[in-house]
Amino acid sequence: MLGTVKESCMIQLRTHIRSLEREYRDLLQTHTLGQCARFLVETDSTNVQAMSWAQEGAAEGSLIFAEHQTGGKGRHGRIWEAQPSSNLLFSLILRPRLTPASLSLITIAASVALTETIETFIEPLTPAIKWPNDILVNGQKCCGMLLESASAINQQKKELPVVLGIGLNVNQSQFPESISSRATSLLLETGRHIPRIPLLTRFLEKLETIYYSITEQNTAPLLARYKSHLAFMNTNTTLTFVGRTDQVEGIIRDVSSTGALRLETKTGIQEFHAGEVTSQAQ
Ligand code: BTN
Repeated sequence: MLGTVKESCMIQLRTHIRSLEREYRDLLQTHTLGQCARFLVETDSTNVQAMSWAQEGAAEGSLIFAEHQTGGKGRHGRIWEAQPSSNLLFSLILRPRLTPASLSLITIAASVALTETIETFIEPLTPAIKWPNDILVNGQKCCGMLLESASAINQQKKELPVVLGIGLNVNQSQFPESISSRATSLLLETGRHIPRIPLLTRFLEKLETIYYSITEQNTAPLLARYKSHLAFMNTNTTLTFVGRTDQVEGIIRDVSSTGALRLETKTGIQEFHAGEVTSQAQ
């Protein structure tokens, strides 16, 4: 009896994922990004799956989407939890013609593309980027990104695969108490159910345009767009560091061409490549 119930649930989930995939293929208008795609009912982590697919030779732009992750990975070794069948959980395999030192341009491009896409779905609300690449709506985090590269052995070698994993809380209706004061979803902020696949395909189209225009020699237009969406610009903030007790206070003044945060501190402008920003006004 129990076996039959489980089997029928599995059949329903497979039918559901096939219909999402059909909608995706009908809507997607990119040349490369997302053209090769795998849609999964459940996996450990789309980043883990994408990395092994990349190492087997997956083409640039290949995408893995999952309705549920049992081992979703966040930044700094954290876990990423998300309600099944409510959100966007996916990873893109890229083979950028950039040196490892410039890979932050990928997350900068993705933050811009996703912020500008989300904006069109949640009007009149405006999303903002919290440095380096969280997306906030009404000051709470709805999206995180995790960029992982295949190998750091040869620091000069270009076109090594990287995996860009994105978790966007779209229609999640509640969060565990431990994160409910910081996390949100587009549904919770707008009161509207947001169509996930149209959001995903429009993001891929926007990212494709930006991604193929990135060059290390001309980062200014992308950075200007990124800064125009940056939260807490010119305001007092505190920068904390994972695994450390010290913190730095200052005013966010700029972001460098490699994505470093330029903070005006008591001792002058300092650059940071990592850290967690909180606004002192919060
Ligand atoms: C963060 O900590 O803010 C980054 C979260 C990234 C989560 C996404 S969900 C899809 C992809 N697969 C993972 O295991 N992680 C990323």
